[in-house]
Amino acid sequence: MANLPKIIQGGMGAGISNWRLARSVSQLGQLGVVSGTALDMILARRLQDGDPGGHMRHGLDHFPFPEMAERIWRTYYMPGGKHATEPYRTLPMHSKDCPRELQELCIVANFIEVFLAREGHPNPVGINYLEKIQIPHLPSIYGAMLAGVAYVLMGAGVPVKIPGVLDRFVNHEPATYPLQVSGALENDDTTMTFVPQDFAECELPPLTRPRFLAIVASNTLATTLVRKASGKVDGFIVEGPVAGGHNAPPRGKPQLSAAGEPVYGDRDHVDLEKMRELALPFWLAGGFASPEKLREALALGAAGIQAGTAFAFCAESGLQDDYKLALIRKAASGTATVFTDPLASPTGFPFKVAQLEGSISQQEVYLAKPRICDLGYLREAYRTAEGAIGYRCPGEPVTTYVAKGGRRENTLGRKCLCNALVANIGHPQVRGGKYVEKGLVTAGDDLTGITRFLPRHGSAYRAADVVALLLSA
Ligand SMILES: Cc1cc2nc3c(=O)[nH]c(=O)nc-3n(C[C@H](O)[C@H](O)[C@H](O)COP(=O)(O)O)c2cc1C
Repeated sequence: MANLPKIIQGGMGAGISNWRLARSVSQLGQLGVVSGTALDMILARRLQDGDPGGHMRHGLDHFPFPEMAERIWRTYYMPGGKHATEPYRTLPMHSKDCPRELQELCIVANFIEVFLAREGHPNPVGINYLEKIQIPHLPSIYGAMLAGVAYVLMGAGVPVKIPGVLDRFVNHEPATYPLQVSGALENDDTTMTFVPQDFAECELPPLTRPRFLAIVASNTLATTLVRKASGKVDGFIVEGPVAGGHNAPPRGKPQLSAAGEPVYGDRDHVDLEKMRELALPFWLAGGFASPEKLREALALGAAGIQAGTAFAFCAESGLQDDYKLALIRKAASGTATVFTDPLASPTGFPFKVAQLEGSISQQEVYLAKPRICDLGYLREAYRTAEGAIGYRCPGEPVTTYVAKGGRRENTLGRKCLCNALVANIGHPQVRGGKYVEKGLVTAGDDLTGITRFLPRHGSAYRAADVVALLLSA
């Protein structure tokens, strides 16, 4: 493949790798990747915050279907922004037969994020999704493709059906996606369908088919995807367990260290010889954000590296400033620590948590938080006794989860990532005029070393500092 980036700025949800960060990285000639996670809600909240800077309005003005754009503007925009003690409007939660309002928000929000990241330069921009958050996939990908996204990157699951979806959307054809429903029977209807023509307000020319990069933690999964995917897989991100965000669980019987973190062993080793045999480009991720590691990756046959943590703390990222500065300060004083929490994420995947006062990484802050599920992106679909599809999250109130057939032990230590992750980027929900949702910051083990990107005597750095250091060798 021609023109491959050496550095991919990994997708970081929710809203950490926003259009600003991705645009900065792509402008520098590397690949900037926006996070596609929960963009519908993020757009709705940006508008309720009064759209500071007018960027959402600017994106809406370029959206190809003006009536849809106006509906969203009229519904969510609050001039001057909502009052700090006022709650954000709750959206309906995603379900298999998703309300049109949410599908429109997904299409438009994904369009805007990619459109803004592409503005002002001719270089490609990618978008990242978690396979596990399945329900928004079809309208979200369609929206991103309307804006000309060049790469779709997806991990946290087995995205075997995504390449075929990309192929269908090139000509605005309907696409389907199978929803995983636990306990579903063979004849249950679990297929989601999205018909672009149902949303179109005019005829559009064919779209460009983005390249599809699957994020994997094993060469076996990479081989399976090449053989079984519904269309072409164009390459891989091979991510190891020191990476920020969710990590693939260790293979075999789960074991915890004395500190309570998952233990990875030989079986988790990725055989790069097998990756090379696939003859597709791959990038190495997880502790690769240094000139030495980039050189090492190239020597191992990789096209380059994907980095997350290094970019999560630069000035352009969506992480709110007080969290960003506090963690940079901790890194500088040698007191930053990251815990790989086997329980925190409702997905059941290990999740890297930066320890930070005031965030729900602290037990007392976590315990003071009301247990609630009102965003619902990580809900699991299950077959109810009546044969319908129900939705449950182990982060919701325990009695509710158990009443839905969930196992009580699944609820232990679970955190409401949905609410915490939007709090991280400055859109916390407010409850009863008083309780303000707290954040939970994820970072890779690399957090302890991020001060290497700081300019001399500086306390903040930019994406350009990261790229310059990585390419300095
Ligand atoms: C704050 C943060 C959020 C992340 N969120 C996602 C995500 O939504 N989807 C994803 O595929 N990877 C996510 N990642 C992983 C990164 O894309 C990247 O692969 C990883 O950070 C690379 O390892 P490093 O942190 O050692 O550089 C996240 C990482 C961080 C630090």
